[in-house]
Amino acid sequence: MSGSGELGAPRRFRTADGGLTAEMRAAFESDGYLLLEDFVAPEDCDRLRSRALELVAGFDPAEHRTVFSTASRAHAAAEYFQSSGDKIRFFFEEDAFDPAGELRQAKVLSINKFGHAMHDLDPDFEAFSRTAKLRRLAGEIGFRQPLLLQSMYIFKQPRIGGEVGWHVDSTYLYTEPLSCVGFWFALEDATLENGAMICLPGAHRQKLRTRFLRRGGALVTETLDSSPWPDDPRVALEARKGSLVVLHGQLPHFSGPNRSDRSRHAYTLHVIDGVCRYPDDNWLRRGSDMPLRGF
Ligand code: FE2
Repeated sequence: MSGSGELGAPRRFRTADGGLTAEMRAAFESDGYLLLEDFVAPEDCDRLRSRALELVAGFDPAEHRTVFSTASRAHAAAEYFQSSGDKIRFFFEEDAFDPAGELRQAKVLSINKFGHAMHDLDPDFEAFSRTAKLRRLAGEIGFRQPLLLQSMYIFKQPRIGGEVGWHVDSTYLYTEPLSCVGFWFALEDATLENGAMICLPGAHRQKLRTRFLRRGGALVTETLDSSPWPDDPRVALEARKGSLVVLHGQLPHFSGPNRSDRSRHAYTLHVIDGVCRYPDDNWLRRGSDMPLRGF
């Protein structure tokens, strides 16, 4: 995708209780995103951040060195990634290791993200994820039976935070019919300098282009429609700490590398509708002892 277009600014809204006005619902339908400022209190952001750092402190990098890169896809081959749907697992930045295989900097500054079931396995993440405000918001945007499918804590580390290429989340979190919505929380200010997301508002109404699924023992990307996404318009989803960006599952988005000295911690929660079919060949799986639950 070329970079011809100028970057627009997002529309910004607020809700005290998760309820949406008709204007906000219309904005989500037409744009495919909804930026809600001050959705989470700063102290709740800080608590989640502290808990994330505790979880990283308890992770031994000698056990697993799986790099998460949307460029190399090296992670896709790793069993550690494939079986992470109902666990808490840690993935390194691509530039985290030197040629000798040693971490270039402290572990806590080398992790790209961890996921994918903190919302069910960790009490602090569960408390952040299962709130009456989010339950109401999910109902307002049309969920009939919301199920919390996936959580990720994303570090976007200073200087080495990697780019996340253009994609839509429904490629990875697929249901029939499509139902995935991402709830993206800014735990720190996200700016273009430290890797804020950029999206193509309105493009969520186009057909799904690819699906990431299991075939044999591998994870593969299947092309459903090879037409390119439009170049414009583009909006930079710069978001202050405490903001929630609701992302339609078919909205193309991207985030550049973080070459700044500031981290850009974010937490994402992906929700699907239990009235839709969840195919057996989806990459993200859970054991039968851990069924999906709602808010
Ligand atoms: Fe995404």
